[in-house]
Formats: sequence, structure tokens, C-alpha cells
Amino acid sequence: MAVERGLTPSRLFFALWPSPGVQQALSRQAQACRRECGGRSPGTERLHLTLAFLGDVERARHPLLAAIGGSLAAPAFDLVIDRIEYWRHNRIVYAAPSRVPDALPALVLALRQRLAVAGWPAEERSFAPHVTLVRDAQRAPASVAFAPLVWPVDTIRLVETIREDGKAAYRMLQSWTLAR
Ligand code: 2AM
Repeated sequence: MAVERGLTPSRLFFALWPSPGVQQALSRQAQACRRECGGRSPGTERLHLTLAFLGDVERARHPLLAAIGGSLAAPAFDLVIDRIEYWRHNRIVYAAPSRVPDALPALVLALRQRLAVAGWPAEERSFAPHVTLVRDAQRAPASVAFAPLVWPVDTIRLVETIREDGKAAYRMLQSWTLAR
């Protein structure tokens, strides 16, 4: 029996989403890493930095998440991405900042606190800011540093992962602009 789409839980996460210019720059890094390390890179428009992973969420709870996103009132900030790193355990090559501005963990903490109050279980992973560039890498990248890329962080998104033709795709449910 077909399950009505409106009633099925869907997989959601909050993320920082780069502007098209920053996406292009990250995408160039992703392609270079993929050539060097093998594996698969996400499409340019899928590159992001996850703030909070929510897992499968009943649709009835989407408005609660929208209210949480809207309540954050965080300031915009600049994030300088300047390193390529590798997690051997899951074979992910990712881009990361050498220096994490205070505003970023503060934003994640505020988000996690609100999620906890709303009854979400705490995330097991501690927050490690990263933009996944390559999955299923065959080898670690040789170089770690690259020309610093300044990402003016001004947008948070609530995103749904959907299956489309056997592939995962992202659908933006809502976005919020951070105050400059
Ligand atoms: P990743 O890039 O490190 O794989 C959508 O799947 C986003 O949620 C991705 O950015 C992914 O991080 C993150 N994600 C997926 N599963 C997760 C989990 N179990 N815990 C935390 N983050 C997760």
C-alpha cells in the first residue's frame, strides 16, 4: 500500500549554505580532491556545512523546527575555509577552517539547546565544522592548505534529504538570513 507522502517522516538537517560564488570555489576544491583521491564529490549546489543533523522527522514536527530556526537571531560572520582534511574512518575528504570564529559554535550551541528543549535527543557527534568534498575517497589527500576562501555566512537552511531516481537530493524547506 502506498504511504501518503505527507505522513511519512523525512530526513532533515540544519546547515549553512554558501552563496553561488563560494559554492563555485568549494566545488573547484572538491574536483581537485576527487582527481587526487578518487571517490565521489557532491554536486556544486549540494555543498554545505551541517549545523545539526535531525534524522527522520515526522512532518507534523516541521513547524516546530521552522520556529526554532526562526528564533535563532544570530549575527552574520565570516568563515575562512583554508584546509583540506581527511577522515580515514569514513573516507571523507572535507574542507575546514583553521580558525573557528566564536559565532559558529555559539550558533550550534543555541540550535542544540533549542532542539533539546523541544525534545530532540542530543547528537552523539561533537560539532566538527566541515564541508564534505569527497565521499568514498581511495586515499588521503597529500596537501592540506589552500588559498583562504572567505565565506560570508549569512544564511541558515532547514533541508530535507529526498530520494530521487535512486539518488539522494536536497530540498530546502526554509531559510533564514543572519543579521549583518
Ligand atoms: P557529512 O557531510 O559529514 O556526511 C546531510 O546528510 C548532512 O547531514 C551531511 O552534511 C552529513 O554530514 C550530515 N549527517 C548525515 N548523517 C549524520 C549523522 N548520523 N550525524 C551527524 N551528521 C550527519
